[in-house]
Amino acid sequence: MQSDNLEYILDHYKNPRNFGTIEDADFSYEEGIPSCGDVIRLDLKIRNNKLDDIKFSGTGCAISQASVSILTENVTGKEVEEIVSYTDKDMLEALGGQVSPIRFKCALLGLTVLKKALTGKSSNQ
Ligand code: FES
Repeated sequence: MQSDNLEYILDHYKNPRNFGTIEDADFSYEEGIPSCGDVIRLDLKIRNNKLDDIKFSGTGCAISQASVSILTENVTGKEVEEIVSYTDKDMLEALGGQVSPIRFKCALLGLTVLKKALTGKSSNQ
């Protein structure tokens, strides 16, 4: 991993953006990775078919926490359809494209939770 990418990821890990919860969220979803025990919860507010607000909570490794922090910044204000079409490749590129394959599951956990929340796998839980 290049040092500038590493610093970018570490900054998001140490100073997470959009960390917290939304009391009156339109959609909420939580999922973890059983093998490591890490869990991410996302709370979403949708207005005019756009993501008006997003907060994440939970615990996880540096890659998973930084990834979801970066993800929340990248999707805020976007249309729901655009967010749902965001791919694993897009997420990995947002991290500088240099996360090792063994950490892909960490990097993609937040995106998995976000898509499940938006596609109605679960709501208001
Ligand atoms: Fe659990 Fe990374 S080790 S999400």
